[in-house]
Amino acid sequence: MVMRSVILIPRLMLHSVRPISLLQQLPKSQYILAPQLSRTLYLNQALCSPHVADDNTNKTIDEMVSDRIEDIKSGKFQKMKDPQKLKHFRTPPNVDAAHSLDPTMVPKDGATTDGSYTLPHPIWSTKEVHSVKVTHKTPKGLLDWFAYLTIKSLRVSYDLVSGYNRRTRDEALWLNRIVFLETVAGVPGMVAAMVRHLHSLRKMRRDHGWIHTLLEEAENERMHLMTALQLKNPSLMFKGVVLAAQGAFVTWFGIFYLIAPRYCHRFVGYLEEEAVRTYTKCLKDIEDGAISHWKTKPAPQIAVNYWNLAPTATMKDVILAIRADEAHHRVVNHTLASMNKDDFNPYKPGE
Ligand SMILES: [Fe+2]
Ligand SMILES: [Fe+2]
Repeated sequence: MVMRSVILIPRLMLHSVRPISLLQQLPKSQYILAPQLSRTLYLNQALCSPHVADDNTNKTIDEMVSDRIEDIKSGKFQKMKDPQKLKHFRTPPNVDAAHSLDPTMVPKDGATTDGSYTLPHPIWSTKEVHSVKVTHKTPKGLLDWFAYLTIKSLRVSYDLVSGYNRRTRDEALWLNRIVFLETVAGVPGMVAAMVRHLHSLRKMRRDHGWIHTLLEEAENERMHLMTALQLKNPSLMFKGVVLAAQGAFVTWFGIFYLIAPRYCHRFVGYLEEEAVRTYTKCLKDIEDGAISHWKTKPAPQIAVNYWNLAPTATMKDVILAIRADEAHHRVVNHTLASMNKDDFNPYKPGE
């Protein structure tokens, strides 16, 4: 029996593009002899669940996270494509540079000639942007509580220093807050992706599909920043504060991601809970506060292109789209924090 299993393992590796059919042919004893390999092959198909952006339903964060984990465990996910059939393997080398390999990455108006390309990301419907709720995942265990309390203390301190609850929340206050926080929010995804990338190189093991989601999150946050910068020109002092904050945060997050990646994803999950709370308040100030002119202020062109907004879109539409992104990061990070670091990422590109 042992001999048959030894022979079988290389056969499985050769056929890893069709793992389930092979596993189904395995006698039970051989499955038990190679449990780690079998599990890896089984999860090889767990690139995604069929749901897109299910963060904007009425479910709680706990329910959405458990749904994702259950999807993986029960096998309810799409099958991995045969790599040889993926589009980029067949694209001729002299393809027009203005055409991305993935049509979803190219704005329909052909605005690609300036070299602007973005990674795939969700495009929200009107119903989705309006259905985002402020939610909270109850901390379970020491790491969760540590992450939650870290975020809460950072939030209280920043609110105090920026006068968020004391001053009139006018356009200047909102732009200062959005620009500063988005320079911070773009850090975790990039650092986490880098750590996992280097880990994969160093340990000579695959990443299990997390890196693309982390990079997409980092770029999405940077696009929030690029959009806000259309309305604000930061001073030298502002840039100095951002420089100091970035130096400290990159160092701190990088070290913690090496030691405790689950803590870091939970930390980002709670950070995103606060981001949703903040943008919800921003929308309230647009409705009946000091920035009601954002109801009619035209959206910057960069935002119209990125979120595929109507040409008549306003700043309110932009904030609704940003809030939907933050709600998406919230459930993605809480999900990643509830998984083992060697589990397959259930989010496929653009989800
Ligand atoms: Fe953001
Ligand atoms: Fe975010």
